[in-house]
Amino acid sequence: MAWLVEDRLKPYRAKRAEAYLTPEIKKLVSEKYFPRYPTKHAALLPLFHIIMHEYGYIAEQAIDEAADFLEITRAQVQDAVSFYEEFRLTPSGEYVVNVCRSIACELCGHKDIIEKIRTVFGIDPGETTADNKITLFEVECLGACEQAPCALINEDLHGCLKADDFAVRLQQLPAAASNGHGHRH
Ligand code: FES
Repeated sequence: MAWLVEDRLKPYRAKRAEAYLTPEIKKLVSEKYFPRYPTKHAALLPLFHIIMHEYGYIAEQAIDEAADFLEITRAQVQDAVSFYEEFRLTPSGEYVVNVCRSIACELCGHKDIIEKIRTVFGIDPGETTADNKITLFEVECLGACEQAPCALINEDLHGCLKADDFAVRLQQLPAAASNGHGHRH
């Protein structure tokens, strides 16, 4: 009997001319991380963090470039990037709101916060508002349980949240480019 084999490799999207792994990024990784580890492969996670910080997500082309740079296969890069939920494969809005859903925050009303955001902004976790301003995620413990319930707006922690006030805070976020997020898309 012949096996039917599904080709899961999607057709490759058009490449942008400019590399995601800029000379500056390669230099940083080469000088700071390669000396720390026995193989280039081991610098994969630090490289992902740099890419996330620069672009806000890890583009398909960046996965290919990382494989070349670290001298590993694309599948090895893809495996790692898809394992950790903080690495995203699609662009996010200007503000990424990560609401903690772990036990302390759950007990202190994380569901109220998610529900309020759903009502006010019309998005569920994993979605972005139509104006591309806010992307909502639920994440595990942010290490600030004493401030439960809490959330990150980009990299800033907001604790002891009340759903109504937090929704107002999100509505009052300034427009793009003045949020200090630092992503270059
Ligand atoms: S449970 Fe939410 S910060 Fe720890």
